[in-house]
Amino acid sequence: MLSIRNCERKVLFERGNSRGCEVFSYKKQNIVSWIILYYEVLDLPYIDIQEPIRECLMSTNLSPSVLAKFTAAQYSVSYVEDGMKLGLGTGSTAAWMVRALAKKIRDESLNVTCVATSQQTAELAQKLGLNVTTLDNLKTLDLVIDGADEFDPRGNLIKGGGAALLCEKIVAAASDKMLVITDASKQVQTLGAFPLPVEVVQFGWATTQIMIEKLLISADVKTRQSALRVRDGAPVVTDEGHYILDLQLDQIGGIASLTRELNQIPGVVENGLFIDLADNIIIGDEKGDVKILDVATQKMSEASVDISLASQL
Ligand code: 5RP
Repeated sequence: MLSIRNCERKVLFERGNSRGCEVFSYKKQNIVSWIILYYEVLDLPYIDIQEPIRECLMSTNLSPSVLAKFTAAQYSVSYVEDGMKLGLGTGSTAAWMVRALAKKIRDESLNVTCVATSQQTAELAQKLGLNVTTLDNLKTLDLVIDGADEFDPRGNLIKGGGAALLCEKIVAAASDKMLVITDASKQVQTLGAFPLPVEVVQFGWATTQIMIEKLLISADVKTRQSALRVRDGAPVVTDEGHYILDLQLDQIGGIASLTRELNQIPGVVENGLFIDLADNIIIGDEKGDVKILDVATQKMSEASVDISLASQL
């Protein structure tokens, strides 16, 4: 049985920090109210909640991994300037960034036009009053800020844990600069520990999977397993109406050839390898310290943010 204490946060289950259910309780005038939040992708709920309960939620301790995400996100908005056309990533780190951005735009009266990489991010951004338009309206962007599932020392990424890789890659390609907001737990020497998401059309997806598995036989990878991404007994359908195949490869030797060959298979729409797209990797930690990798020069710099700001977002 779950015991609920005042303002205590209980995570009932969690998968990769991206899916879970939490119970919070709140006591006012001896009446205990409690709230159960079921959420996907975001670590923090962004649903509208009554202000006292919101205060209660925000005063609860954030886990170190959530604080690290906040730190990277908070620092990343220091790159945003008045008049920018900005791409907004998807995921729990990107959600912190959207919150930090909304505050910065309010505080500094900035004029920033945003393009979201998913319906989920678009909804959050609009709810927070950001000016959101389509990529077709803007065509090119100054900057995109997005999370990642894995990054290597050369700034290459695996993305798509939140099933938004297709729009994320289009937006990254349309942007002059890409900032990746992340924490040190996602750093690897060689990409592949995180299952590589591949977005495929629904028609004939099982045939596409067989063709991918055939390709993997001769690919420079350590393991070769593929699975249709399923949630609650049904295939996950992306914003663009496709399925996701997750490839467990453990280590990917030739990322450039794999991305090229995957995308040549009929039925494959895009894969989650982001090569030569990131300009800076912003690595936050739970204390508010930030390391910034400049991918081009391979130089690392340091900064910090005030983690108490998390309670204001
Ligand atoms: C969504 C993504 C996300 O950026 C990635 O899954 C990281 O998510 P989070 O910030 O929640 O850890 O690629 O498709």
